[in-house]
Amino acid sequence: MKAVAFNGSARPKGNTARAVEIVFGELKKEGIDGELVNIGGKPLAGCTGCNKCKANKDMKCALKDDGMNSYIEKMASADAIIIASPVYYGNVTASVKALIERCGQVARANDSFLRHKIGAPVVAVRRAGSNFTYAAINFFFGIMEMPIATSSYWNMTLARDPGEIENDAEGIKTFENLGKNIAWLMKKTRG
Ligand SMILES: Cc1cc2nc3c(=O)[nH]c(=O)nc-3n(C[C@H](O)[C@H](O)[C@H](O)COP(=O)(O)O)c2cc1C
Repeated sequence: MKAVAFNGSARPKGNTARAVEIVFGELKKEGIDGELVNIGGKPLAGCTGCNKCKANKDMKCALKDDGMNSYIEKMASADAIIIASPVYYGNVTASVKALIERCGQVARANDSFLRHKIGAPVVAVRRAGSNFTYAAINFFFGIMEMPIATSSYWNMTLARDPGEIENDAEGIKTFENLGKNIAWLMKKTRG
């Protein structure tokens, strides 16, 4: 079994990436591999509404030059999908929004191939907007018919500069428990 995590931060070693590492640490203890894919900080267009994915039904987005199709392939081959985002102006980053729009449209055009894969959001926030961001990611999992893994608190860390997550003991515990719960759900539903 395999988990993939998409990090929408432009900082590959920021708080969001570290939060995913903590989740992956728990998955590893259960023999589950994790792949972290950094999608932030590079051009990633939103959906153009061209509907070519619905016409072609080839598991691909018609915008082929920004790597989105490789992200779609990674989603298709994973059992669990983590979408991780720092809060930017009270919501997900633009990169995560583009991922949701285009992978979502391609999935719906292709027999909803995300159905029954496990989803989990991961959020890093300095101060405000984490609940909304957490919910925005869960709305995606909801419409994709994906069971959502939860934790002992909502999956977020209060941190600003890279590394500040290490001062947030409750956040770290939350991500550890999230990893344990993703593994539990994977074994129950995907084993
Ligand atoms: C463009 C931008 C917008 C941000 N907007 C918010 C915000 O709305 N609320 C907040 O609490 N923090 C906000 N932050 C702070 C980040 O969420 C915070 O620093 C987070 O830890 C960054 O995660 P990273 O290290 O993975 O990039 C913003 C940061 C940037 C760069």
